Amino acid sequence: MTAFQPADLKLLGDLIQERFGLMFDGVRQEILASRLQPRMRELRLDSARAYYEYLRFHPQRDAEFERLPALVTNNETYFFRETRQFEILIDHVFPEHRRVAPARPLRLLSAGCSSGEEPYSLAITLQNAGLTQVGNAWEIEACDLNPERIARAREGLYDETSLRACDPETRGRYFTAEDRRFRLKDRYRGGLRFFEANLLAPHFTLARRYDVILCRNLLIYLCDSAFESVIGRFAHSLVPGGYLLLGHSESLFDRATEFEPVVLGGSVIYRKPPAR
Ligand SMILES: C[S@@+](CC[C@H](N)C(=O)[O-])C[C@H]1O[C@@H](n2cnc3c(N)ncnc32)[C@H](O)[C@@H]1O
Repeated sequence: MTAFQPADLKLLGDLIQERFGLMFDGVRQEILASRLQPRMRELRLDSARAYYEYLRFHPQRDAEFERLPALVTNNETYFFRETRQFEILIDHVFPEHRRVAPARPLRLLSAGCSSGEEPYSLAITLQNAGLTQVGNAWEIEACDLNPERIARAREGLYDETSLRACDPETRGRYFTAEDRRFRLKDRYRGGLRFFEANLLAPHFTLARRYDVILCRNLLIYLCDSAFESVIGRFAHSLVPGGYLLLGHSESLFDRATEFEPVVLGGSVIYRKPPAR
């Protein structure tokens, strides 16, 4: 049996917050315990204290730290989650982009894309609105720190849970059944590029500039300093006038950032001030 004493979980939680900005305080300590338990069994460690000491002192500690964020982060996602924001892109952001920069595609980043359901849903919605990749209307890049999730995104093969918001007609239209799983049809997979990235890695910068960054349901897990660091990196990586879209339970309200809230279609999104 594995022992999880609250004091040891606190030590582990503090170490994880210090290194990765992820918060596991209060009730989230139990979540941390359940996520670490399989790995601790693999390592034959019988207590949270033993795992903490492994992370601090074991010769393999650097490798363990590499794999740790993927072990403890929440990868929950599904197709067509919070699609209201996609409509805002189609109704407001695309027309504006066409006026300002008609010669180049709209560049979008899904930051913290998990296994790809979010960027693929976006690509499908854009195609359905007549914004085709063939016409070079957009490019979507998508990143996540978890290599296993990025591999799944590239494979495009999903379980029932990923399709829980899809009715039978939607499933038939966008997916092909494969045993008891669902493969996204090829025509919805073009124009996307997936890559691994830890948004909080020291000195990390995104290589490109984007018109829109979606970062949904990631910031809620971060402590204040990590939250602000990620938002600062997004500000740097957006073109002047670019947009940042957060999840429903995330907001920049009461935070000192350069972003301005904009109400569009009844939702708040954030804008980096345009160049003067
Ligand atoms: C809850 S999922 C949200 C997925 C999708 N954005 C959505 O809203 O459905 C959060 C994702 O963020 C990723 N993530 C967490 N911290 C990250 C970081 N520092 N850098 C990159 N990805 C991160 C996790 O691996 C996870 O796949």
